[in-house]
Amino acid sequence: LFVALDVTPESQRAAIHCTVNGEPVTATFPVHRILLDFLRADLGLLGAKLVCDAEICGACTVLVDGLPVSACTYLAVEVDGASVRTCEGLGSDDALDLLQQSFVECGAFQCGYCTPGMLMAVTALLDEEPRPTREAIAHHLAGNLCRCTGYQKILTAVEKAIDTRMAAGGKQ
Ligand code: FES
Ligand code: FES
Repeated sequence: LFVALDVTPESQRAAIHCTVNGEPVTATFPVHRILLDFLRADLGLLGAKLVCDAEICGACTVLVDGLPVSACTYLAVEVDGASVRTCEGLGSDDALDLLQQSFVECGAFQCGYCTPGMLMAVTALLDEEPRPTREAIAHHLAGNLCRCTGYQKILTAVEKAIDTRMAAGGKQ
């Protein structure tokens, strides 16, 4: 049994207060802690994925104060005072949000590894621009790589979510 001991001296630790998916979080960790490790290992939020570890693929995308960031290269200490959103905050097992539901209905994933990052990147886009064109969606997702779907079903799923929301008066 291997147990990793955190022997970081107190002088190299940081304390933060933030919200994660609307819940207040207070934490202390080494100043070099990466946001993705904080979310996955410390908070147990396993949606955001580690793939490239180099801010290239977008699989680790989460929102910090509404803006998409690559959690694999973002220091956890930088979210002090901020609002963090991950895909776990979009819907629940019993009630997917509109975008998640649309991904399911359109078959917009296969292995699903890229999906949490795609969902969060699109969420940021739709918060800014409720009716982007297909081209604008594709441009916005240029930093989110998918090895499986060929991208077309992802774009179709986003368009379907937009259409459904518009049909409901833009309220969903
Ligand atoms: S794992 Fe962070 S961008 Fe690829
Ligand atoms: S669904 Fe497999 S990488 Fe996108």
